[in-house]
Amino acid sequence: MSNFITGLKASGNGMLVRISIIAAIGGLLFGFDTGVISGALLYLKKDLNANSTAQEWIVSVLLLGAILGAIGSGYLADKLSRKWTKVISGCIYVVGALGCAFAVSIPMLIGFRFLLGLSVGTASFVAPLYIAEVSPPRVRGGLVSFNQLLITSGILLAYLVNFAFSSTPDGWRWMLGVGVIPGAALAIGMLTVPHTPRWLMEQGREDEARAVLTKLRGSDPHADIDKEIEEIQKAKEMESSSRVRDLLKPNIRPLIWIGAGLAIFQQFVGINTVIYYAPTILKGTGLTNSASIAQTVFVGVTNVVFTIVAVLLLDKVGRRRLLLIGTVGLTVAIIFLGVFFASSWLQTNASYLALVALIVYIAAFAVGLGPVFWLMISEIYPTGIRSKAMSFATVLNWAANFVVAGTFLTLIALISTQGAFFVFGGMGILAIVFFAWKVPETKDKSLEQIQQELLGGDAKVSAALKSGSDE
Ligand code: BGC
Repeated sequence: MSNFITGLKASGNGMLVRISIIAAIGGLLFGFDTGVISGALLYLKKDLNANSTAQEWIVSVLLLGAILGAIGSGYLADKLSRKWTKVISGCIYVVGALGCAFAVSIPMLIGFRFLLGLSVGTASFVAPLYIAEVSPPRVRGGLVSFNQLLITSGILLAYLVNFAFSSTPDGWRWMLGVGVIPGAALAIGMLTVPHTPRWLMEQGREDEARAVLTKLRGSDPHADIDKEIEEIQKAKEMESSSRVRDLLKPNIRPLIWIGAGLAIFQQFVGINTVIYYAPTILKGTGLTNSASIAQTVFVGVTNVVFTIVAVLLLDKVGRRRLLLIGTVGLTVAIIFLGVFFASSWLQTNASYLALVALIVYIAAFAVGLGPVFWLMISEIYPTGIRSKAMSFATVLNWAANFVVAGTFLTLIALISTQGAFFVFGGMGILAIVFFAWKVPETKDKSLEQIQQELLGGDAKVSAALKSGSDE
């Protein structure tokens, strides 16, 4: 049986699963927004008279908001706590979704989409951060990846919501307004969860940290609360302060590179062009409008199903292996898609192969790079700088998303569809080399053990985190 299921059963306590799901609603907001706008846009552009520049702004301003949200919330997650940052993010989402649903002009819609972006950018990394800090090592991979599971479920939910309201008058207002429900669920749900033990220890609130850990570990026979507290304490003593410039310290820098590489390659292999443009890609193979939309739902389902596979396997097979297998798979698939579009013979005689390639691509992403990026950045950094370093990696991820989404159509115009897919394939090859060379295995280790191993033993950790200089 999967280590994840056995591990959860051993913990004998539903609290961990409950709070991980609540925290992962942050992922649902993220995914819902990614999926809903393309459908809503079809209708709102007529009602609000949006020309193509206005439409581009309506879509992409969310990514700009997300970049800013991710920057600001690294600080908030330390100062206010992970928990309260997520409550605020849920509230902002509710206001944003309502504002979009009732928007009477393009500037108003753009303004509220920006607000949604602030919330999504925050939720996108504080969710994995929170879950990693409450999870025991044996099931951390699966639990943190609930976040990715809810991202993919959010994308699928959005396709279904778009479909449900496609013939309702003012349907786009409903499509955007439905976001109020997960937003409120996040804000209210987060009020019921505890602070993370690691954040409490950073605040010097050891008694509370111990009480939370005791509840979280339930009757888990592998749990040793004293040892966990001692490890967190030891790791904390090695850190002096947590400032943004700490990210540049020589021992920390390699970890920042790993997070940056994962963040950028996750987007540069073209995932969101497939998510945003799947119907267009499929239509290019000669399908009708409705057939290509139906097949897009199939792509969405594959994304969810293979993320479940990842949740079950990450704690058994390991992060690194799944990352490498997945990235090889998606690279082969996208290069094949390039070959497909270059060959008129394949297009006429075997058009179903485009769908097969898209499905393989999505499945391979869902099993590796999708969840592993968010998981790794929640694991590899020391507690004192975790939220700032994660916020940095998240900013890069949103910025790379913005660049790819904003240039895809131009890229196709410049070098053709197949050319664009070959570029993504080339990125995939670079990604495989980088991951094989740099990305460590973190399965089964406590966050503090990972910190020790990556920074090279107590003395070096201490020196790395305490030294004021950048030497
Ligand atoms: C990525 C998103 C992407 C989603 C697709 C996430 O891990 O960060 O940009 O849309 O996966 O499943």
